[in-house]
Amino acid sequence: MKIEIIRPELEHSFDMAHIHVRTWQFAYHNLLDKKFLQELSVTEQAEKWSRRLIDADSSFIIFAATVKKKIIGYIFGGRPQYKEDNRYDCEIYAFYVLPEYQGLGVGKKLFKTFTTEAINRGYKHGCIWCLDGNPTEGFYKHTNGIYKKSKRIPIPANGKNKYKNNMYIYPDLNLLLKKLN
Ligand SMILES: CC(C)(COP(=O)(O)OP(=O)(O)OC[C@H]1O[C@@H](n2cnc3c(N)ncnc32)[C@H](O)[C@@H]1OP(=O)(O)O)[C@@H](O)C(=O)NCCC(=O)NCCS
Repeated sequence: MKIEIIRPELEHSFDMAHIHVRTWQFAYHNLLDKKFLQELSVTEQAEKWSRRLIDADSSFIIFAATVKKKIIGYIFGGRPQYKEDNRYDCEIYAFYVLPEYQGLGVGKKLFKTFTTEAINRGYKHGCIWCLDGNPTEGFYKHTNGIYKKSKRIPIPANGKNKYKNNMYIYPDLNLLLKKLN
C-alpha cells in the first residue's frame, strides 16, 4: 500500500469532512452521546473545512494521507486553543485515520510530517488533548507524550454534557521526531 502525504486544498473539503464524521462515529461511539454522533453532518463539516483550507495565510498546519488519491486520514494543528497553554507552542487539534487503515503506519507518517513542519516553522513544543478512555491515549504514550493535566469540556461546544479531556505534551519536538524516525 503506497501512502502519500499531501497538503489538502479546497477541492478536498468534502473528503476531509467525511473523514471527520466517520472517524468520530467510530472512535467515540462508547464515549460520546450516540444521537449527537449520528447527527454529525458531512455538509456542515465540509463548510468548516472549506473555510480552513481557503485561508492560505493561516497558522494552521494541515496534512492528509492518501492511498490511490483517496484521503484516508488527516492531521490538523496550529497555535494552542487555550491561552494558558501557550508555552506548548503547537497544538494538534485533530488527528484521524479511517478505521480500516489504522495500525498500518499511516498515523505515524502523518505525525512525522506534521512534526517536521512544526519544527521548520520554529515551534519547539507540542501538545494534544484526548478524551479520557480513548484508546488513542496509548498512541500518545507510545510516542513519549507526557500526561500533563485534565479538563472537563462540553461536546458539542454548546452542549450540556461535559467530558474529561486529557492533555499530553511533547516538551521537545526534535526528540519526538527522533522517536518517530
Ligand atoms: C491515533 C491514530 C491516528 C494512529 O494512527 P495509526 O495509523 O493507527 O497508527 P500507526 O499504525 O501509524 O502506529 C504507529 C505506532 O503507534 C503504535 N500505536 C498505534 N495506535 C496505538 C494505540 N492506540 N496504543 C498504543 N500504541 C499505538 C503502533 O503500534 C505503532 O508502533 P511502532 O511504530 O512502534 O510500530 C489512529 O489510531 C486513529 O485515527 N484513532 C482514532 C481517532 C482518534 O481517536 N484520534 C485522536 C483524537 S485525540
